[in-house]
Amino acid sequence: MKNAVVIVTGASRGIGYAIVERCLKEGCQVLAVSRKPEGLNQLKSPNLHFWEVDVSKRDQIQSFFEGLDQKKIIASHLVNNAGIYFGRPLSVYTDEAIDDVLNTNLKGVIYFTQYFSERLMKQKKRGAIVNISSVSGICGSSDPIYGASKAAVNGFTKSCVYNFSPWIRVNAIAPGVVNTDMIKAIPEHILKKYRSSEFIDSSTEPKDIADATLFLLSEQSQHMTGVILDVNNGCYFRS
Ligand SMILES: NC(=O)c1ccc[n+]([C@@H]2O[C@H](COP(=O)([O-])OP(=O)(O)OC[C@H]3O[C@@H](n4cnc5c(N)ncnc54)[C@H](OP(=O)(O)O)[C@@H]3O)[C@@H](O)[C@H]2O)c1
Repeated sequence: MKNAVVIVTGASRGIGYAIVERCLKEGCQVLAVSRKPEGLNQLKSPNLHFWEVDVSKRDQIQSFFEGLDQKKIIASHLVNNAGIYFGRPLSVYTDEAIDDVLNTNLKGVIYFTQYFSERLMKQKKRGAIVNISSVSGICGSSDPIYGASKAAVNGFTKSCVYNFSPWIRVNAIAPGVVNTDMIKAIPEHILKKYRSSEFIDSSTEPKDIADATLFLLSEQSQHMTGVILDVNNGCYFRS
């Protein structure tokens, strides 16, 4: 991964931050994207470059990639990690909140993938995409809009394989509960249920998802594409 140029969205906190840290440790150039830079200030590295981008806004994403074009930077790897979760039942969802979730969790992934793949494919260069999905996209969620957004990300991941092979591998990770700010929005009784269905008795931390991400970005997974990788303490079995 030494020559890799990795875009990580949602880089300022939680899982995204851990992925940035891990990529820097591997010697990658990291283009860290989120709406606010604050969290990233602690990471001092000449290989870290912050870009303020709202992933739900196509025009901002287009400007980001045009900025890279001007600097003659072509990213080789993309981690679509940015996401939001409201922990709401369908009955209280407004149109605006539905748009927020779908625009961030799904359209953001689509937009980034479009601009990233267009450039890499034109150069006939190899690369990889990892989408941070969720167990919710497979088993459902008490927040149906979030569950729908992640199920769509899984479908999008598998479908992109047809478009980008053999140049770009596309895989996703489906975490269960990971200790970040996001889980504060999970209703208490639901969180208890998730925890009690886990087979492994230590909680999943952001660095654990970062390890799995690095594996899927790297040549160690060179024969894997279209995979949705569970990292969930065994909380759901499926065939
Ligand atoms: N934590 C879990 O239990 C869990 C489980 C399964 C899947 N996941 C998935 O893992 C990913 C990361 O979640 P997390 O737990 O690390 O969440 P988090 O701690 O809430 O962090 C979310 C990150 O996404 C960024 N972000 C949110 N909306 C954005 C937007 N419109 N544009 C750019 N950046 C945006 C945030 O930065 P700014 O606010 O600064 O923009 C922040 O860096 C998400 O896709 C989530 O769905 C999490």
